[in-house]
Order: sequence, then structure tokens, then C-alpha cells
Amino acid sequence: MIDKLVEIDSVEIRAIGVEGAASLRRAVLYPNKQACDLIADADRDDLARHFGAFRGSNLIGVCSVTPDTIHLDDRVYHWRLRGMAVLQADRGLGVGKLLLLAGIRYVDQAPEVGLWCNGRTDALNFYRNLGFHNTGATWMGPDRVERVKLCRP
Ligand SMILES: CC(C)(COP(=O)(O)OP(=O)(O)OC[C@H]1O[C@@H](n2cnc3c(N)ncnc32)[C@H](O)[C@@H]1OP(=O)(O)O)[C@@H](O)C(=O)NCCC(=O)NCCS
Repeated sequence: MIDKLVEIDSVEIRAIGVEGAASLRRAVLYPNKQACDLIADADRDDLARHFGAFRGSNLIGVCSVTPDTIHLDDRVYHWRLRGMAVLQADRGLGVGKLLLLAGIRYVDQAPEVGLWCNGRTDALNFYRNLGFHNTGATWMGPDRVERVKLCRP
């Protein structure tokens, strides 16, 4: 059974499987790739969690948190945020914020905390609003999207 985590304005945040997360990652972030190629080994880790935003039965947004430790600026971050994505028609309504808060809440309960991601610089303020800071230089990916490492807290 799927747990209902949050509900606002006819949008519910629920725990979902990795395949659902990959389908939205593809639709929003990587339309030229196959969904199956967008699943990392860490996505299938027992501790990984995938969150979906639903309007009715329609999946409109996703994010995932997976164990993945990195050292940045003399600090250790144990969790990685992946595949933060909301369908275009549903952006700007608070859906992304609810999804990310679900991921943050889950990570903050773990014994080893600290969340990081490779964030798109054009979404920087979205992450900053939720307590992330950017660190290091930006880089341009092969998809011609500029990214930067973002960490929380
Ligand atoms: C980035 C994204 C996930 C945000 O989801 P969303 O549902 O539109 O965001 P929300 O409506 O919850 O916005 C939350 C806050 O972030 C801000 N915000 C949202 N998207 C933003 C963006 N792209 N840049 C800057 N700020 C943004 C909002 O203004 C809002 O601020 P407020 O709390 O002060 O009102 C969504 O726009 C998206 O999927 N974009 C395309 C894919 C992408 O860039 N993903 C991130 C990959 S690193």
C-alpha cells in the first residue's frame, strides 16, 4: 500500500517506486534518454526513497533521495537528491517544494545526514529557498545544462 504523506490543493505526495521516478525524470529532464537508463544503482538501495506528487492518479512531479556520500569543503554529506522534476503545467504552485520537503524530512531522520545534489543553476533559488547553499565552480554538462554542487545544511 502507498502511504499518503502530504496533501494540498488536490495534490498528494506519496512514496513511489523507482520506475515512476524514472518516467518523470525522462519526461522533464532527459527526454532523449530511455527511462531505464535513468535509474542508478543507488536508486535501488534499500534506504533510497522516491517521492511522487499526484493530482488524482496522474504523477506530476518526483524527487528521490539515495545514500551517496561525498566530502565537500571539509564536510561530509551522506545523501544525494536526484531527479527533482515537476511537469511544466504544474510548476510554480508549490509542488516542487512539497516534494523536496518530503525528501529532506526523510533524510533528516537518518543517523547520518547531509544532503547534496548536482543542481541546475537556473533552479538555484528553488534550492536556496529550502536551505541549500552552492559550493565550488559551475560546470557545463554534455547536455549543455550548467550545474553546480548544492548542499544542505
Ligand atoms: C525546479 C522545479 C523542480 C521547481 O518545482 P516547482 O513546483 O515549480 O517549484 P515551487 O512552485 O514549489 O517553488 C518553490 C519556490 O522555489 C521558487 N522556484 C521554483 N522554480 C524555480 C526556478 N527554476 N528558479 C528559481 N526559483 C524557483 C519559487 O518561486 C518558490 O519560491 P517561494 O517559496 O519564495 O514562493 C521545477 O520548476 C522543474 O521541474 N523545473 C525543470 C526541471 C529542473 O530544472 N529541475 C531541477 C534539476 S536540478
